[in-house]
Amino acid sequence: MRDIRILVWDFPTRTFHWLLALSFIAAYGTAEAERFQALHLLFGYTAAGLVAFRLVWGLIGTRYARFSSFVFSPRAALDYASSLFTGAPQRFVGHSPLGSWAVVLLLAMQVLVFATGLGTFLVPNGDFLEDLHEGVAAAALALVAVHIAAVILTSVVHRENLVRAMISGRKRGAAQDSATGARAFAAIVLVALVAALWSGIVPAPGVTDLRGALTAQASQHGRHHDHDED
Ligand code: HEM
Repeated sequence: MRDIRILVWDFPTRTFHWLLALSFIAAYGTAEAERFQALHLLFGYTAAGLVAFRLVWGLIGTRYARFSSFVFSPRAALDYASSLFTGAPQRFVGHSPLGSWAVVLLLAMQVLVFATGLGTFLVPNGDFLEDLHEGVAAAALALVAVHIAAVILTSVVHRENLVRAMISGRKRGAAQDSATGARAFAAIVLVALVAALWSGIVPAPGVTDLRGALTAQASQHGRHHDHDED
């Protein structure tokens, strides 16, 4: 059967992916400086909310977003991995067996990062949790680096730009393998929820107070400037 470009990743999966990549990297980048703490918390909540969404979408999403379409057999993962180094690599339209494990690991790491981060606030004298949070976040970053390297490697092996596929949602395939429906509405709801969180319409514990503190600090700073100019 002739290959055409078919829909594989629905809109919510792509929206989730790029918002998660942005939130995780932004949370990492704002982790150290005290003055960015509100932003760090905000991106952390966003990543956690996105992961919660993805878990639900894995049950009710379209064909390739569903966890039931993932291949978890260790044997299949080994076969797939070894086929990558032969002239005839196995090809999967949705997640490959290695990709399926990678998704679960990436999501599980995000859950651990969030749980330990939350713990540092909730557990009194939770210094050990802060160290654990930093360690888990560094491991999650290393996993993301491996993830990106694997995406590049498999793109080369399959001669298919997988990053572009995560943007357009489309890959080569037979018409009957296409996902049904892009589910744009669910993606719009997801973006609206994230926008509500970022704009403060949905209050986030710790962020609202810090936002107030930051605004107060900024206006105080402005007043100092006014005095300087006098
Ligand atoms: C910024 C660089 C990144 C690029 C270029 C990238 C690219 C991709 C691509 C191409 C896929 C689809 C893989 C496939 O075809 O099987 C994918 C999936 C995935 N990536 Fe990334 N990624 C990036 C960053 C991240 C980050 C920072 C995270 C997590 C913190 C992440 C988590 C995931 C997850 C969970 C999936 C599975 C998608 C799903 O089924 O929901 N990615 N990524």
